[in-house]
Amino acid sequence: MYVCLCKAITDSQIKQAADEGDGSFRAVRESLGVATVCGSCACEAKKLVKASARSSTEDQLLYQPA
Ligand code: FES
Repeated sequence: MYVCLCKAITDSQIKQAADEGDGSFRAVRESLGVATVCGSCACEAKKLVKASARSSTEDQLLYQPA
């Protein structure tokens, strides 16, 4: 699903960038260019970055080495 229509950026691209980067919205914005034109996608993009960060934290908490 497209989140940023101005730059044609999808939710999958945002999640992937958040997982590969430091998980901050600023880093995702700089790497993809999301929310750099009209800015109307910023709230949704931030939600996706937060959800991605929360998901990877939960993965770390669930992983318990033997
Ligand atoms: S919709 Fe993302 S900058 Fe306009």
